[in-house]
Amino acid sequence: MPAQEIYAIGTRPPVGEVPPLMHAQVVRAERFGRPADAFQVEQVRVPSLKPNEVLVCVMAAGINYNNVWAALGQPLNVVDLHKREDPSEDFHIGGSDASGLVYGVGGEVNNVQVGDAVVVHAGYWDASDPHIKAGGDPALSTSMKVWGYETNWGSFAQFCKVQDHQCLPKPANLTWEQSAAYMLVGATAYRMLNGWPEHAVRPNDVVLIWGAAGGLGSLAIQITKHLGGIPVAVVSSDERGEYCRRLGARGYINRTQFTHWGLPPDFDDAAAYGAWFQGVRGFGRALWDALGERRNPRIVFEHTGQDTIPTSIFVCDNGGMVVTCAGTTGYAGVVDVRYLWMRQKRFQGSHLNNDAQAAAVNDLVAQGKIDPAVGAVYPFEAIGQSHQMMLDNTAPSGKMVHLVGAAREGLRE
Ligand SMILES: NC(=O)c1ccc[n+]([C@@H]2O[C@H](COP(=O)([O-])OP(=O)(O)OC[C@H]3O[C@@H](n4cnc5c(N)ncnc54)[C@H](OP(=O)(O)O)[C@@H]3O)[C@@H](O)[C@H]2O)c1
Repeated sequence: MPAQEIYAIGTRPPVGEVPPLMHAQVVRAERFGRPADAFQVEQVRVPSLKPNEVLVCVMAAGINYNNVWAALGQPLNVVDLHKREDPSEDFHIGGSDASGLVYGVGGEVNNVQVGDAVVVHAGYWDASDPHIKAGGDPALSTSMKVWGYETNWGSFAQFCKVQDHQCLPKPANLTWEQSAAYMLVGATAYRMLNGWPEHAVRPNDVVLIWGAAGGLGSLAIQITKHLGGIPVAVVSSDERGEYCRRLGARGYINRTQFTHWGLPPDFDDAAAYGAWFQGVRGFGRALWDALGERRNPRIVFEHTGQDTIPTSIFVCDNGGMVVTCAGTTGYAGVVDVRYLWMRQKRFQGSHLNNDAQAAAVNDLVAQGKIDPAVGAVYPFEAIGQSHQMMLDNTAPSGKMVHLVGAAREGLRE
């Protein structure tokens, strides 16, 4: 038992000594709405462990868009999800990226021990699921959940609770804040770009990346380059475009020069459809300009959804793939199926990662082949504000990270 019941942010008890209480950024159903208000610091109990679980003392926590959704209470009421698991959990502690030190392990855990420095991936599943036991991809299991979004006890607290297989060794060359930045978006992007046979990125493939200066995008640019592809970025400012170039994009398209977004007009409305068609063709020409040659993308990296899917399907090369993991601007991703069958394009969904995909990304970062793309580091207290910036699309390029147990930036362990 440690000397204190609760420790100040930026401090922690001796390794392995677990206090009864901790500070956490908590979302409650009655605060659903603006992320800046939905997150509030509260004192809560430190969670207890099941046999396959690990307690991690969080040193730094990365921000992801999923907890914008959690704060809004849309499209899922995450507090209701947690209450179904345990009626006493009428709150949400989010956070799907963490770096930290192992402070406790359940009885069946044998891949990490107390004192290990780890990073955590967000794939959470029931290992007894027959699909997984039969060797199936856990990311396709019906039991798969996003840790720190669909599960409670995420990284926006002094201690988080994870399944053993989620823990990977923290790259020794990185600081705590760098280690908390890349995993969720990196492993998601890795699966999208390398996890769908026939359409894994090959050398010289053109890959169009929406939201390329954001979290997913900044890792997707680098993973595409690593696989030998040619990333072309879509962004909403030249400043973001230059950031993407520095990460390895061949060029960028500034989407604010176009207006044809959203659901396409009815085919029968010749004038409106003609104007829309001019828009997507103009976007295609801008893509060739950014690339420097008249080639269409074999892969389109989507997550923006309703506003952009018709354009993605149009510009994708014959036999290519539009791969998506989200619908940030809306869920009605309207597809003109003529392009799918006549041009034999593929529209593929993708969600998170399995253990192997997370490990592959961790290795690339540890080897210095991929930069964690930290855009800004903030204090623990500002977690609501960074989610608000994400929602308002005013966040800095790259990833936002918050210090929790780490007393200041630049520390390694
Ligand atoms: N299923 C999964 O496994 C998974 C994993 C990770 C993330 N996601 C989801 O993927 C989405 C993006 O996540 P993220 O971490 O990359 O978020 P992010 O860092 O906020 O980046 C999103 C980017 O989208 C672009 N954008 C915003 N509005 C747009 C519009 N109307 N049209 C085109 N682009 C627009 C913005 O770039 P510009 O304004 O510069 O164009 C922004 O940088 C979120 O919905 C998130 O929940 C899903």
